Amino acid sequence: QYAAVKDVLAGQYSAGETVTVRGWVRTRRDSKAGISFVNVHDGSCFDAIQAVVPSDLDNYSSEVQKLTTGCSVAVTGTVAASAGQGQDFELQASSVHVYGWVEDPDTYPMAPKRHSMEYLREFAHLRPRTNVAGAVTRVRHCLAQAVHRFFHQHGYYWISTPIITTSDAEGAGELFRVSTLDMQNLPKDDKGQVDYSQDFFGKEAFLTVSGQLNVEAFASSLSKVYTFGPTFRAENSNTSRHLAEFWMIEPEVAFADLNDVAKLAEDMLKFVFKAVLDERADDMAFFAERIDKQAISRLQHVIDNDFVHMDYTDAIEVLQNCGKQFDYPVAWGVDLQSEHERYLAEEHVGAPVILKNYPRDIKAFYMRQNDDGKTVAAMDVLAPGIGEIIGGSAREERLDLLDKRLREMDLPAEEYSWYRDLRRYGSVPHAGFGLGFERLVAYVTGMTNIRDVIPYPRSPKNADF
Ligand code: 4AD
Ligand code: MG
Repeated sequence: QYAAVKDVLAGQYSAGETVTVRGWVRTRRDSKAGISFVNVHDGSCFDAIQAVVPSDLDNYSSEVQKLTTGCSVAVTGTVAASAGQGQDFELQASSVHVYGWVEDPDTYPMAPKRHSMEYLREFAHLRPRTNVAGAVTRVRHCLAQAVHRFFHQHGYYWISTPIITTSDAEGAGELFRVSTLDMQNLPKDDKGQVDYSQDFFGKEAFLTVSGQLNVEAFASSLSKVYTFGPTFRAENSNTSRHLAEFWMIEPEVAFADLNDVAKLAEDMLKFVFKAVLDERADDMAFFAERIDKQAISRLQHVIDNDFVHMDYTDAIEVLQNCGKQFDYPVAWGVDLQSEHERYLAEEHVGAPVILKNYPRDIKAFYMRQNDDGKTVAAMDVLAPGIGEIIGGSAREERLDLLDKRLREMDLPAEEYSWYRDLRRYGSVPHAGFGLGFERLVAYVTGMTNIRDVIPYPRSPKNADF
């Protein structure tokens, strides 16, 4: 019977039972006593299982002794209590079948030594074999599952919002254009010039920057909804926290205000952190040991404490009086830079902090104006080590104020006509936020570059594999 490595290591099979595990060799060591220790991982958990292979197997010298890191194998054997430290169980092998050899072990890029993250990025197709990529992948999966579970348990419906769209949801012009594949027959104008405005079956269309506007329509009917899907930003930011393609979780809640969704963000983060500590203790132990000492204690601290809330205006005062020299000077009205966000989260609060009520002029057109006339009911959740992980707001549900904002920002009202309709027919106060999924994974794992927490990162000049 075939067994997952995690089930054997967890004691799901009793000693003496015969099982077959299938996976990839992590290491092989031959003892003088004429046996080999072959460690096999199959991705089901962080650890590999140790197979003890005796030299009397038919293929011992012809194959077993030639196994190198990365070879794919099936090992059949009896489950036995392990004498060595570390694991409770091992396999006493009775047969080893080799599925695939590593052609040239000397040049196999994933040799069992510590590689830099930059190096591993050049082998996006092989890096899943590494400890670190395996751990990231399992934690990422656990977080995604927990996000869906959280919303499901709280009565939210998951809405699949479109990836191809004509709307600029943020009004920031950071869109990738969708174009036809048929390069030979690109539409031409009268002068024979390629007409790039005719890209999507005769219409200009883009990859979405956010599902928010679409999901607002569903909140205006199903009350509590969220999106969870890929989003795209054509900002030319080559940083450790920006991707051109990333996943976003965007809840949208009818009859809610800014404080309601700030609470929702806090509850959701605590829920998913708890899930990852409960379900991925093995991977989190690895992150705490190898990547970031605080990986576990930091999450526990967040779970155990109330989030600190701060007004943007107060934050500016803190930044101005903290005595620290910033590269970008701070004054009321400026958009906060990563260095400011990190100071507030890391040094001032020492935990995630929710900043609220930003100046209207640095925020998106859809944010609800506060009574002071100069701020909007916006929030960002800032996390130590990363800065902004969540951006959200109450939405402007009053048509006259929304239209005024569109005019002030030179955004064409026609293009947002369907969005304006939501304010014309049964408009309600509502609010929501967007959580960048990769920033969440980076925060949880302590990984310092966002490119290492998504299977295939897309960033400027990088779309291979
Ligand atoms: O602050 P942003 O731009 O807000 C929105 O898109 C809203 N429509 C969300 C909403 O209210 N429904 O983006 C939200 C989050 C950011 O806080 C950040 O975590 C992440 O998305 N994000 C990125 N993550 C990786 N790479 C990028 N280039 C990102 N841009 C934003
Ligand atoms: Mg933002």
